[in-house]
Amino acid sequence: MKTLIFYFSGTGNTRLVANEIKNNLIGETTLFEIKNDNKELPSFDEYDLIGIGYPIHGFNSPWFVYEFIKRFPKVNNKHFFTFQSSGEAHPANNYSARKIIHHLRKKGYIPVQDFHYIMPYNMIFRHTSEMAKLFYVYVKALAKYNAIRLNEHDYDVVKYKWYKGWHTPIVRIEWPFAKIHGKLFKVDKKKCINCKTCVKTCPMNNIEYKDGKYIFHAKCVLCMRCSFYCPKEAIKPGIFNGKWKITGSYNLTKIIDDPSVRLANENDKQYKKRILCYKKYFKNADALLASKNIPLIYK
Ligand SMILES: Cc1cc2nc3c(=O)[nH]c(=O)nc-3n(C[C@H](O)[C@H](O)[C@H](O)COP(=O)(O)O)c2cc1C
Ligand code: SF4
Ligand code: SF4
Repeated sequence: MKTLIFYFSGTGNTRLVANEIKNNLIGETTLFEIKNDNKELPSFDEYDLIGIGYPIHGFNSPWFVYEFIKRFPKVNNKHFFTFQSSGEAHPANNYSARKIIHHLRKKGYIPVQDFHYIMPYNMIFRHTSEMAKLFYVYVKALAKYNAIRLNEHDYDVVKYKWYKGWHTPIVRIEWPFAKIHGKLFKVDKKKCINCKTCVKTCPMNNIEYKDGKYIFHAKCVLCMRCSFYCPKEAIKPGIFNGKWKITGSYNLTKIIDDPSVRLANENDKQYKKRILCYKKYFKNADALLASKNIPLIYK
């Protein structure tokens, strides 16, 4: 089987999910990062299966992911799957792929799986290392579960009831908002060391350094990569500056092998805060993993 996985990732969570799926798919899998400077798409003819992954932003995909998939060619019954990472296990997140799926169906694609993985938040609040480890341990196992099903052509009929997900078009106000709001981002000159990491890594090439100033243009997708990874926490991300801004990698690939970071459980404060959503997510995950004897692996 030859698979082509497109993914967008602001702060790295969705990239980790995409990698896990790739590692468990049989045959050849190519990862393609969705960025503003993607000029040409690979030829779809040689691939049996297409994947599309993104972080959930305001219960939807980021606007650029939808713009990107609009460039997909018409096909004749090609299978595709969607996957997302998000900070919450809330069911309101479950309809984020609806618009993408609707568009691609009209172009001859057949959705065969839509899967939602919980990963640590990259804004609003910071998950503890224990919670982050718990999410990632499950992501690794669930990605294996999903990949095995894709390998076996054990497909879902991806269908949404018409009255479900009614909130997603309303919250899609985030799409124009992200672009306008992006212009409000600022660099704190007192903290900035002019390393230009933000300029070089913005997936939308939205940050320009000109005449000693950092200019934020209107292509922002609100991915938070610039402020999350700025080594000096020098970026003020508009109205999200302050309590909702969080910075610094969760180091997921390290903490999974670090026995000094324990796995969170139902007694952890952050778990308790959203206990119903988490309980449902992990209970469902445990049942899926048990059905294929997939263990949770960590130190
Ligand atoms: C602008 C923005 C909006 C977000 N909206 C949601 C949301 O609606 N639901 C949710 O569960 N998480 C939300 N999140 C959290 C991210 O989906 C989550 O941290 C994701 O794993 C980030 O993936 P990435 O590292 O690949 O960008 C949002 C994050 C950002 C930056
Ligand atoms: S990443 Fe931070 S420190 Fe580096 S140039 Fe950008 S704002 Fe300045
Ligand atoms: S300006 Fe920052 S938040 Fe906006 S797209 Fe670029 S890296 Fe992401």
